[in-house]
Order: sequence, then structure tokens, then C-alpha cells
Amino acid sequence: MAQWVMDAAVKRSDATFELIDLVDYPLPHLDEPLPPAMGKYQNAHTQDWAATIGRFDGFVFVTPEYNHSTSGVLKNAIDYLFAEWNNKALGIVSYGTVGGARAAEHLRLIAGELKMADVRTNVALSLFADFQNFSELAPGEHQAQTLETLLDEVVAWSTALAPLRQA
Ligand SMILES: Cc1cc2nc3c(=O)[nH]c(=O)nc-3n(C[C@H](O)[C@H](O)[C@H](O)COP(=O)(O)O)c2cc1C
Repeated sequence: MAQWVMDAAVKRSDATFELIDLVDYPLPHLDEPLPPAMGKYQNAHTQDWAATIGRFDGFVFVTPEYNHSTSGVLKNAIDYLFAEWNNKALGIVSYGTVGGARAAEHLRLIAGELKMADVRTNVALSLFADFQNFSELAPGEHQAQTLETLLDEVVAWSTALAPLRQA
């Protein structure tokens, strides 16, 4: 899924995109002594993760739906940081039996707490309609256009929020 998003994103000329795979950032269960909003990250793995996320102006989270929410791994990675997410745009690409819709809505609640601007458009990939054998991505034709709209919105809001990030 993430590669499908990336393949569309890199064709654009209005922003540059990178794929961050959490497999490459194996964070332990959150182990910082202080809440992230205090901005005093003590562990090297947290500081590295903060440096990675801090470089970006906006995000597209690609999430499965597990028990009507996002994955524990993504939630843990989100929870590590605070300021690095603030005043940045967020688009959500979700997948599950009903397009991962409940995972996406949960992420919107989390985004509010992190001062992220979650865009309206959600690419919701159905395990029944947009996959073969529930495992190989074969998105319906309309999904590519929905993804373009999502990326339009993420770039627009990332750009609009730049003054707040600089403040
Ligand atoms: C622990 C677990 C819970 C799941 N819960 C849901 C769910 O609540 N709703 C849903 O639509 N699919 C659910 N599924 C199905 C997953 O969305 C589906 O298996 C998806 O392909 C998993 O993506 P992944 O292979 O990237 O982990 C669940 C799967 C797992 C492993």
C-alpha cells in the first residue's frame, strides 16, 4: 500500500516525498520518562525518530485496521513525539473490510491532540473490492483519483501551515 502511495506521490512536482517504513524504525514500547509534549526526549532512539519526523511538513499515514483502530506499532511511533507532528497536514490511507474506516477515524481523534490538520479525503481500500485474495493490492480505478485529491489536500495544507511551524 505504501509503495502504491509513493508511486503516485513521486510523480508530483509540488512536493518531495519519502517513504518511512516503521520496520526500519524499530522503536521499543514507549519508554521515555516524560510526556512527549514536554519536549525533553532522553533516549537516542527517540531523538533519532524526532529528527526523522521533524524533517517533514506533512504526512500520509498508511494504516491497516486492527480491532477497529490503527495498528499498535503506528500508535506507539506516533506517541513517542509531539512537537514534530504539530502544525503539519495529515492524509490517511487505510485498508480493511470496510476500507479501514474506523482506523482512519481513530487516527483523526489522535491527530487533533497532536495539532495535525487531517484532510477530508481518505483513501479507504476495501479488502473485498481493492485486493485480490485479501492480500494483493488491486485498487479500483477511482482510488487513484482519490489518492491524487488526498495528496493535493496534504500539500495545500502543509504549505498553508508553514507560518505556524516557523513561529
Ligand atoms: C489483530 C487483527 C485485528 C483485525 N481487526 C480488524 C478490524 O477490526 N476490522 C477490519 O476491517 N479488519 C481487521 N483485521 C483484518 C486486517 O485489516 C487485514 O488482515 C489486513 O490485511 C491486515 O493488514 P497487514 O497485513 O498490513 O497487517 C484484523 C487483523 C488483525 C491481524
